[in-house]
Amino acid sequence: ATGWTDKDFIGLANWGPEEAKAFLQHALQLKADKAEWVKKAPLQGKNLGMIFDKPSTRTRISFEVGMAQLGGHALNLHRHELQLGRGETIEDTARVLSRYVDAILIRTHSHDLVTQLAEAADVPVINGLTEREHPCQALADIMTLAECKGELAGRICCYVGDGNNVLHSLMHIAALTGMHLSISTPKGYEPSPAIWQEAEAIARVTGSTFSFSYDPVQAVKDADAVYTDVWASMGQEEEKEQRAQAFAGYQVNQELMSHAKPDAIFMHCLPAYRGLEVSADVIDGPQSVVFQQAENRLHAQQALLLGLLLS
Ligand code: CP
Ligand code: NVA
Repeated sequence: ATGWTDKDFIGLANWGPEEAKAFLQHALQLKADKAEWVKKAPLQGKNLGMIFDKPSTRTRISFEVGMAQLGGHALNLHRHELQLGRGETIEDTARVLSRYVDAILIRTHSHDLVTQLAEAADVPVINGLTEREHPCQALADIMTLAECKGELAGRICCYVGDGNNVLHSLMHIAALTGMHLSISTPKGYEPSPAIWQEAEAIARVTGSTFSFSYDPVQAVKDADAVYTDVWASMGQEEEKEQRAQAFAGYQVNQELMSHAKPDAIFMHCLPAYRGLEVSADVIDGPQSVVFQQAENRLHAQQALLLGLLLS
């Protein structure tokens, strides 16, 4: 099985274009019919265990509220409040949690840890962000792009900044939906070659293309959407200064936006740092759709939960 009919949701590399399309339609429909879904409470009696190794505002709250709205319940589990924080193995944690909850969400550093958890768990495991990928974000991003731009195939999305987890999942989803992705990062901060290969394999089927330039001005040319993320991700706090220097010239500001299409939207997964990766006038200006993206986390993840828990 592939995609959201798979047991887990750890990444998007094994999704097919049809799954992505079906997911998007389902998520948009669920958003439109929210009141009916809330009345039906289809997740009544279902529990989601959420393990957080790193801070979170959007992921934690949108999953918790998302479960509650659909009649279910979510438990917030911090690593340090679990025996996991005292050396109990991830496998034993997975086996025990599988006997209490219907799905497990995990946000942690290591992608391999999530894979190990999923292998040992009998219930679906959802990746709430690792160093490698942030697939839940990408689901909300295609909802937002579809709402703002209609048909995704053929649209040009440009990502400027750090070649990180958010970019990796954007590469997968762009390939799945036939978008063209133009990427610009400083030297040494390019996306992972393994992800690049995964995305290109999907792109060969959908006709999506990928381009790369160290020059952000060239990269944003003709873009329908300009996307950026923090320069120092969680766990990279001590590299902050060094990164601020390496990324100077990669700020998304009015000047850079002026090279994109006049009706281009500005996207950011949040949290954002005004004056670093984005200027205040862009993120707080009329082209910004960042809070629509944040809202869509809720709707996209509810569609995901319905797919994983009721199939
Ligand atoms: N975009 C995102 O995942 O935000 P949080 O870190 O607040 O969950
Ligand atoms: N790249 C960021 C995304 C936060 C949602 C991080 O990993 O911290």
